[in-house]
Amino acid sequence: MTTGCVILAGGAGKRMKTAKPKVLCEVLKKPMLGWVLDCAENFGFDKIGVVTGFKREMTEEYISANYKNISTYYQDEQKGTGDALSRAKELIKSVDRVCVLCGDAPFIDAETLKGALDMHENSSADVTVITAVLDDPHGYGRIIRSDSGKFTAIREQKDCSPEEEKICEINSGAYWFSSKELLDALPRLKNDNASGEYYLTDCVEIIGNAAAYTSENPEIAFGANTKGGLYELNNIARLGVLSRLMESGVCFISLDGIIIGKDAVIGEDTLILPNTIILGKTVIGKNCEIGANSRIEDCIIGDNVTLDNVKATLATVEDGVSIGPFAQLRPNTVIKSGVKIGDFVEVKNSTIGINTAIAHLTYVGDSDVGRGVNFGCGCVTANYDGVKKHRTEIGDHAFIGCNTNLIAPVKIGENAATGAGSTITVDVPENALAVERGKAKIYENWHGNFERKKK
Ligand code: UD1
Ligand code: CA
Repeated sequence: MTTGCVILAGGAGKRMKTAKPKVLCEVLKKPMLGWVLDCAENFGFDKIGVVTGFKREMTEEYISANYKNISTYYQDEQKGTGDALSRAKELIKSVDRVCVLCGDAPFIDAETLKGALDMHENSSADVTVITAVLDDPHGYGRIIRSDSGKFTAIREQKDCSPEEEKICEINSGAYWFSSKELLDALPRLKNDNASGEYYLTDCVEIIGNAAAYTSENPEIAFGANTKGGLYELNNIARLGVLSRLMESGVCFISLDGIIIGKDAVIGEDTLILPNTIILGKTVIGKNCEIGANSRIEDCIIGDNVTLDNVKATLATVEDGVSIGPFAQLRPNTVIKSGVKIGDFVEVKNSTIGINTAIAHLTYVGDSDVGRGVNFGCGCVTANYDGVKKHRTEIGDHAFIGCNTNLIAPVKIGENAATGAGSTITVDVPENALAVERGKAKIYENWHGNFERKKK
């Protein structure tokens, strides 16, 4: 049996008041659509498709930048969820079972989809709706059951009678369909309802042979239609990630201001301090101390690392490194084990060798730095000549004196040294000392040549 997934993501989301498609609004700095696509990938469908519509270019760009093998279908006018799904006919025809998901309900998970598929098969239903029981069902489609409890229809909020409004079991917006029956039902949808839209939910009555799979976790149904709703989803997701991390052995003294993305992986006994934001595909090892006030995005961090007031993006930091306070690692930076980086240091597109020390006020850009190098205070690699960027190479155990400027391209040999205040414009051989600065001039009795006001 083949399975396919269609994610509905074409709506404009007027209530969200945003310039982008609603499904690109973010929960923990990841578009809601990304959460749903991750769920679909985890499930392992044979095919995954997304229906785009409002500002399709933005949605398509996000998908192609972050996912592989996702087909997209275009809904030119937003005429409702039923009309949206009918755009993906090609995908529906090519599989036996189709799962439909909403791009604005990020907490759906692969386990729930598996449970619902089992029910779909065991009950020989042609449509199985994933439902949840909510304390506040307002805004969601209600699950209508007959006196005998049989699931017969979904009624949208706007079309509910006062009695139906009291029903707390709701449609999560996730469904399994048998493809053949779905293809028969879609052209029969009508838009004679309060919104004038083609409701996918009407397929339940058209198909008839319906089952309802009630999820024990109501969160899988939570969607966001407004910025307030999005904020609530962020709160739920944030606490969810933090408690999952605590269960896996990560330490927190306080959760104040700590935001950790859903894809971050953090090792046992690592302590995360307040106001720290960890995003993207960041991996952090064991026994580290991260924060306070750090922002780490798409980084690989080893064990026993200290990052104090650090901003790091797309960088690799090996074991036993200490960085900060107030340092920045920009993309394509590798900090090898045992390195010490102190205050007001920026490193970009560079490799810093084992046990090297860059203690204060230094910029290292486009450089290959060996092991055991010592940078004095205030060193700068002058990597840009106004047109091109050039590299600086520094050999093992070199000593870069305070306030050295290294004018790239330039090489400092192993064990070489530069005199404090030098602006190095030529390569320095190994073991040599290079001094490139004005000679001292002494003007004797200069003080006596003019009257200086003495206080
Ligand atoms: C929908 C369901 C409702 C359910 C809720 C769960 C219908 C008619 N209603 O309501 O029963 O409780 O989801 O969250 O299906 N979309 C398109 N094209 C369109 C319209 C919508 O692609 O023309 C997409 C949207 O981008 C969104 C999804 O379909 O991702 C759901 O649409 P939305 O308008 O948010 O439906 P709800 O009113 O939330
Ligand atoms: Ca919605």
